[in-house]
Amino acid sequence: MFDHTLIQTTPPETMPRTDADPFTREWIAALPESDASLAKLGDAVWLDKYDSIAVMRHDPIRTILPDWRRFTSTAKPFYDPFTLVPPILVVQDPPEHTVARDALMRFFSPAALAPWRAAFAQEADRVIDAALARGTVDAVADIAAPFVLKVFPDMLGLSEEGREFILDFGDAAFNTVGPNNAIFQASFERAAPAFEWVDRNTTRETVVPGGLADKILRLSDEGIVTMAEAEFLVRATLAAGFDTTVLGIANIIGGIVNFPENYPLMRAEPALAKNAVNEMLRYDPPARMQGRTANLDVEVGGIQFRQGDQISLLLTAAGRDDRRWQEPERFDVRRTGANVGFGGGIHLCMGQVLARMESEAIIDALVRKVAAIEAAGPGERFINNAAVGWKHLPVRLVPA
Ligand code: HEM
Repeated sequence: MFDHTLIQTTPPETMPRTDADPFTREWIAALPESDASLAKLGDAVWLDKYDSIAVMRHDPIRTILPDWRRFTSTAKPFYDPFTLVPPILVVQDPPEHTVARDALMRFFSPAALAPWRAAFAQEADRVIDAALARGTVDAVADIAAPFVLKVFPDMLGLSEEGREFILDFGDAAFNTVGPNNAIFQASFERAAPAFEWVDRNTTRETVVPGGLADKILRLSDEGIVTMAEAEFLVRATLAAGFDTTVLGIANIIGGIVNFPENYPLMRAEPALAKNAVNEMLRYDPPARMQGRTANLDVEVGGIQFRQGDQISLLLTAAGRDDRRWQEPERFDVRRTGANVGFGGGIHLCMGQVLARMESEAIIDALVRKVAAIEAAGPGERFINNAAVGWKHLPVRLVPA
């Protein structure tokens, strides 16, 4: 655990500084471009308002993400020790992190998830058929959210009633990755019933016996984790695994609508579904940033960090880095090359196989059933300190 008395609150002499606030509603509504614009100031910049550093370039971010020895996850910019969010995994380093990660990972491997593929495909078909019957729909409220709120809670074995609360819970959780501002506070007020729902519906007594949540809670019987930790693990999957995937699916549809040349390619070659997910993770990544703190004085890619510097790695800006990507402002499903949208190293998104399966199920149903997807009015961006994407995205679906 990093000693918080070492945290730096004065700007380094050599780094560019800015008084910009990247957590206003206006800034957030203009993501990812607003974050990417910080790269004009330098590869990294000191945020005067938050006494911390933002890093904008793909290469140093790619280097720092897995380097837990030099960049700890146990202290982060904006971290609130009194947070209601489960204090496990993303805020741990080895060896504690390894125990929790290994315990949970066995349920999220490709082999463990494979049996769910058919149910995902069936639900994706149902959701797209219902959307087609209406013609003009909101890609978030009518496609991404109902799909994710059905398939993942079914898998976990959660109550059918009140599942929509999970999105408010995730919204609040993601706000804690940023500063305790008005956006954060409003989401916590909104999420009060959601926190209660989550508390009530993630216990041994309330989850469906034999479901995934039940299996995670039973890890405590084996002595792998304590009961309290097992409950944190269930809640961590709720906090991390819903809003992200809903946003991710809608962000793919947003990319298709704004760059219509992609959709005919995807229909002609269904294998491009995988690329479409990767391209979304670069172009409009649902997870805006990851926090770390430097354990020592260290230089990465020409950026000089001091022990105790708190660092936000802006995945949004990394995806638009013109040193890494040609024409970064273009959504192109033919693009190849690894991006950092799922993080990297020991904290690499634990639900990435699941998120990919969910997204690919929707894309697969779309390309089979829908001839064209067009914008049906201006969308509205989701306002959250650290979760990026569409809150509403009106689209018109033309049947195949
Ligand atoms: C498109 C959807 C998703 C995106 C963009 C995303 C993104 C990320 C990122 C960037 C991290 C790295 C955190 C860090 O480095 O500190 C992460 C970690 C994590 N994700 Fe995801 N995620 C998504 C979906 C999911 C799903 C469906 C789950 C469900 C299980 C999930 C569970 C987790 C967990 C538990 C961690 C923490 C892992 C650790 O610290 O070892 N995520 N995710």
